Amino acid sequence: MQAVILVGGKGTRLRPLTADRPKPLVPVVDRPFLGHALEWVARHGLTDVVLCCGFRSDAVVEAIGDGSAFGVHVTWVFEPEPRGTAGALKMAEEYLQDRFVLINGDVLTDMDLTAQLRAHEETGARATLALVPVEDPSAYGLVRLEDDGRVRGFLEKPKPEEIDTDLISAGAYVLERDVLDLIPAGREVSIEREVWPRLVGEGLFGFVHQGAYWMDIGTPQRYVQGVGDVLNGAVRTETLERLAGCPVAAGAHVDDTAEVALGAHVASGARVGPDARIGAGTVVAEGAFVGAGATLDRVVLLPGAWIGAGAVLRDCVIGEGATLGDAVRVADHVIIADGAKVEAGTILGLAGVARPRDAAGRTTPAREAAAH
Ligand code: GDD
Ligand code: MG
Repeated sequence: MQAVILVGGKGTRLRPLTADRPKPLVPVVDRPFLGHALEWVARHGLTDVVLCCGFRSDAVVEAIGDGSAFGVHVTWVFEPEPRGTAGALKMAEEYLQDRFVLINGDVLTDMDLTAQLRAHEETGARATLALVPVEDPSAYGLVRLEDDGRVRGFLEKPKPEEIDTDLISAGAYVLERDVLDLIPAGREVSIEREVWPRLVGEGLFGFVHQGAYWMDIGTPQRYVQGVGDVLNGAVRTETLERLAGCPVAAGAHVDDTAEVALGAHVASGARVGPDARIGAGTVVAEGAFVGAGATLDRVVLLPGAWIGAGAVLRDCVIGEGATLGDAVRVADHVIIADGAKVEAGTILGLAGVARPRDAAGRTTPAREAAAH
């Protein structure tokens, strides 16, 4: 069966990580983010994938190619300008079969699509939305559900006073092809605002994914968390099998006196110096270097990042080829841009890091890092 994946978004909240890199290509352990989505749909037998692209598609095409590295075959559909979630799907019409799965390309999840497809067949729905409970539905599509699985109401980005359930649309839908008839061609159309409301009472069902992992990785906090959850297995991915419980890959150079926790990943070609400590939830990507005595907890080092001796990094992302001098401290979900140079002793992300105090007990102001 087919999966259509929407990968048109800009990922503005992950800047500068997404300044020169489309969000689908942000690395998550050993794969670009989109690679995990492809492996997830392939696991459910959806190996015929249509990728609907808008923004920066050249780099995405180059990284994903024909999809075979991820167990799928990809057909590419490009928009002349962003057409919205339904408009993008409409552009793929000529490739689509009678029934297919539509996926938002920005969530990290292991939802059981096989079970959702089965439920869709049993109810005879025209569209079945994947649903997950979240604490705050306000940033999502709120779904009011009847006991028999029919959707009673759909509200995109509900106002606080409208929230009367914790169930939201998780961005994975089983659709019958005739749903395309509800989408006008040639203009921007939102599936959430123009299609789901019209299908309420007309064959729109929801399927609640109990106990599945689900996260929109679109903010620095959730990105760092998502990387950690791939490493600790909270979300089921093929990566866990590839890493096979071994935090140090063959071809990585880790000094005998360094410590690498289970639930960390030091990639082939990475180097870790004496007495460094690499904590769980940390990735040291290929070509990255960690200096003597540095401490890293829940940190994503992108390829070729260089960390000076005695650095203390926590809950942060260090861009490709960025250089941090000795004793730099970074915390609190700061993202250091690709290629940035941070002077020795700089402190960034102040709340989480103990800073030197002056004689009056005041903490010293942080120095501005060269973020670009
Ligand atoms: N090709 C293409 N063209 N893709 C698009 C376009 C477009 O014009 N606009 C958005 N997308 C893609 C985004 O890249 C993303 O993968 C997906 O469609 C959803 O768009 P977002 O902009 O991320 O929407 P959202 O997160 O605010 O809300 C959506 O996702 C929630 C779950 O994360 C909605 O579907 C909500 O109902 C849902 O709860
Ligand atoms: Mg989103």
